[in-house]
Amino acid sequence: MNSKIRKMKLEDITAIMVIEKELFSSVWEEEMFIEEIEKQYAYILELEGSIIGYICGWKLHDEFNITNIAIVSEFQRKGFGEKLVQFIMTKLLDGKCYKFFLEVRSSNYAAKQLYDKMGFILLRVRNKYYKFPEDDALVMGVNLMDKLIKDKI
Ligand SMILES: CC(C)(COP(=O)(O)OP(=O)(O)OC[C@H]1O[C@@H](n2cnc3c(N)ncnc32)[C@H](O)[C@@H]1OP(=O)(O)O)[C@@H](O)C(=O)NCCC(=O)NCCS
Repeated sequence: MNSKIRKMKLEDITAIMVIEKELFSSVWEEEMFIEEIEKQYAYILELEGSIIGYICGWKLHDEFNITNIAIVSEFQRKGFGEKLVQFIMTKLLDGKCYKFFLEVRSSNYAAKQLYDKMGFILLRVRNKYYKFPEDDALVMGVNLMDKLIKDKI
């Protein structure tokens, strides 16, 4: 299968909103994706020319906050989510950014498993942070510099 990661464009937002509505109980507004595109770290995963996923986030100095990641249901569990996280990490490492953070619903088993696999650890819990439905937020992070050093030893 021919997959490609490229920058998100304004004209992708209609297709992205369809995926958002399929996957999330609390859906992002279109304006939020416009902001992400402006912040320069919004990417699309295409398979055979169709959008099947996306990732975005904000960079501040040597820290990067992953704000959204999604893979269309029928293509989940095929390594595409991991591919997107790897892509963004590699891109940011080139820019000397080593620390990655994110928030995830405590009930989101699949996402938590993905982040565990990528080396993220639990930093703190924000009680009842999410609504619709109410849920705790797990704040997770990884310092890739530590991980790279550990992997070398
Ligand atoms: C979370 C999400 C992006 C993962 O994407 P994905 O393409 O299915 O994940 P991958 O196939 O790359 O999985 C990589 C690893 O994550 C873990 N994982 C992913 N989905 C899992 C699941 N349903 N159950 C258990 N582990 C899972 C596994 O460790 C997996 O590695 P393995 O296949 O070698 O066991 C996807 O489930 C999704 O879009 N969910 C809905 C939107 C969402 O919740 N986004 C996250 C918001 S914080």
